[in-house]
Formats: sequence, structure tokens, C-alpha cells
Amino acid sequence: MSKKIESVNYGLEKIFDGAQDFLPLLGTDYVELYVGNAKQAAHFYKSAFGFQSLAYKGLETGSKDTVSYVLVQDKIRLVLTSPLNSKSKVNDHIVKHGDGVKVIALWVEDARAAYEETTKRGAKSFLEPTVEKDENGEVVKAGIYTYGETVHMFVERKNFKGTFLPGYKIWESDFKPEPVGLKFIDHMVGNVGWNEMNTWVKWYEDVMGFVNFLSFDDKQIHTEYSALMSKVMSNGNGRIKFPINEPAEGVKKSQIEEYLDFYEGPGVQHIAVSTDDIIKTVSDLRARGVEFLSVPPDEYYRAVPGRLEEFSHELREDLERLKSLGIMVDADEEGYLLQIFTKPVQDRPTLFFEIIQRMGAKGFGAGNFKALFESIEREQALRGTLDKS
Ligand code: FE2
Repeated sequence: MSKKIESVNYGLEKIFDGAQDFLPLLGTDYVELYVGNAKQAAHFYKSAFGFQSLAYKGLETGSKDTVSYVLVQDKIRLVLTSPLNSKSKVNDHIVKHGDGVKVIALWVEDARAAYEETTKRGAKSFLEPTVEKDENGEVVKAGIYTYGETVHMFVERKNFKGTFLPGYKIWESDFKPEPVGLKFIDHMVGNVGWNEMNTWVKWYEDVMGFVNFLSFDDKQIHTEYSALMSKVMSNGNGRIKFPINEPAEGVKKSQIEEYLDFYEGPGVQHIAVSTDDIIKTVSDLRARGVEFLSVPPDEYYRAVPGRLEEFSHELREDLERLKSLGIMVDADEEGYLLQIFTKPVQDRPTLFFEIIQRMGAKGFGAGNFKALFESIEREQALRGTLDKS
């Protein structure tokens, strides 16, 4: 893989002119995972990732079909939902996909308008605009399907003063593990099927008013064995970024193909969360048992100073410390970034997390793709999913 990403199209002027922003998004509202055992998953995200208890909905609040635990860390809200009986539709999702992201909720000023604009442009409806109320006010929710069975929920909360959403109660807990410094969601990546990337790029352009802000083809993203293609979509104000991956032909099986096999369709591949101090965050996460992909080889770290020099950036962190934690470094014209990837957070090799600290760079670590994918391939080989069957 060439070190320089020459055909990158930054297209930032397009993002910020706002000309076609018919869908103004204020930010990510929450991410909801459907999981087999929400109570235990909530404990994992608290103890291992440093999330705090925020809100709860279940039998005690009159919710008879599903239970949901809401966790918070700075601006990140995770909702973990499990079915309470065999009739709940959540079961179908879990049987097919295993634990995974069902909803990427987007905070909007006007959920009805967001629903109208997107469905008018071809989005498939998941939930018609619905008003939910309790003593703290009202929230308007409306949802559309994106790739696979994944949903974008528009959440309008300007007339609501409660903790999370109507119907939830505050979740008081004496167990309050220290946060690890996760601040906000930087981006969320979707894996889609063979030859479907451009379909979904067009969907985000046409239906959501997003722009394609970076593109990588299989000549840029490949190792000796496998390849993938990726295009990064961004909304009008640049706050929401959704890279979309599809597998590409290689000698062996692409990690995207492995994901599609085990998730049984398209879905969210990883959630990238931002920190201001990746050394502290990753040290804490490792100490609490979070598993990361293997540390890149020495030759990777030997090349880091040259890569920073190429763009005249000075690394503020100690390279040896980064290496001991397995944190990777990438640079572009605007700055550098530090990143690391967890192993999948459930038994199926599907969803994982990325921890990222941006030091000016707006990219996604293209210079690290090769080292990253080689690391994933080592895991695939252990799982017996690298060879084509
Ligand atoms: Fe990422």
C-alpha cells in the first residue's frame, strides 16, 4: 500500500456551504444496541468502558416486552435493550444478528420535518412521527431504515426536561466506576454487501443530504491477502460522519465479508469514540480488561517519525508509550491522529470500538489501514475465517 493517499477528496467546501442541508442534525442523540442480556451488558460497559448509569425502562416502569438500560459518558449515550419474552420483535434481531447496533439516533430540531424530508426522498419508514409524553414533557421520535435492519431515529427533545426519554426512570446505582475519558462519537462505520457501497453513498446523498468527504479504493486499502473499499459520508455541518465499507476481492477473505457472514447482513462495524488523552484512556481500558487488536510490529513504529516528518508535525506523545499500548499514529496535511481498535465486543466477530484522539487530522487513519488489517487477519486466521471456503 502506498504511504500517500493521493486521490483523497476532502471536499470540505461542499460540506460547509450548507446549500443542500435539508436535514439539519444537531448531533448523535444515542446509540441503541439490541443484546441478549442487557443487564450484564450494562455492567460490562460500566466496569470495562467507564460508562455511568443514567436511565432505565423495564418491568418496574410498566415496560412489559423489553428492558433498556441507558448509560452515559460525557456526550455519549448507549442504550442496551433486551426482550422480556419470546414474542418481542427484539428477539428476531438478536437471533439473526447477535448483539449489535439497532438504532443510530440523531438529535434534530424537528423530527416530523426530518421524517417527511427523508421519506419523500425514498427512505423506508421504521416509525412514523410519534409523540411520547410524561411529567417531564414530550419528545417526538420518527425513524427510517438505513443499511440492513439498522435504523436512524430522529429525536426532537426541545419540549422535554427529563433525564433521557419519556417512560424512562432515573437509574440510581451505587456502582460508579471512574470514566475512562470517552467524550463523544467521532464516527460510526457501516459494512454493506458486495457492490453496495455506492448504492448507500447515493442513499446518504439523496435521502439524508450528506456529502462524500473521503474515498478509499481497494488499491489503497489492502494487504497481501484481503481488501475493502470505503467512502466517508458527512452531514452538512460535519458533525456526523458515517464511513461505509464494502468487501473487495482478495486472495483471502476480507474482514468485511467475515462481518457480513456473522452479522448475516449489513450493519454497524465499529463505533469510534473520541478522547483527549488516549494514553490514559487506553491504559485504563486495558487495566479493566478491554481487549485490543495485537500491537503492530516494530517496523510499524519505526516508520512513524518519517510519516510525521513528511507532513512536518511533531508528536507530542512519547512514541515508546504509544507502542507499549499498541496505539497507532497517522498523519495528514492538517495534523495527526492516534487510534486503536478493540477486539469484537461480543462472540460473533462483528461490532467493535475504536478509540481516537485527533491532533488536527480529519482523516480516518488511512496510513494505518495496512497494519490494522494485518492485525485483524491474524484474528481471522485464529477463527478460521481468513481462508475462503
Ligand atoms: Fe474508524
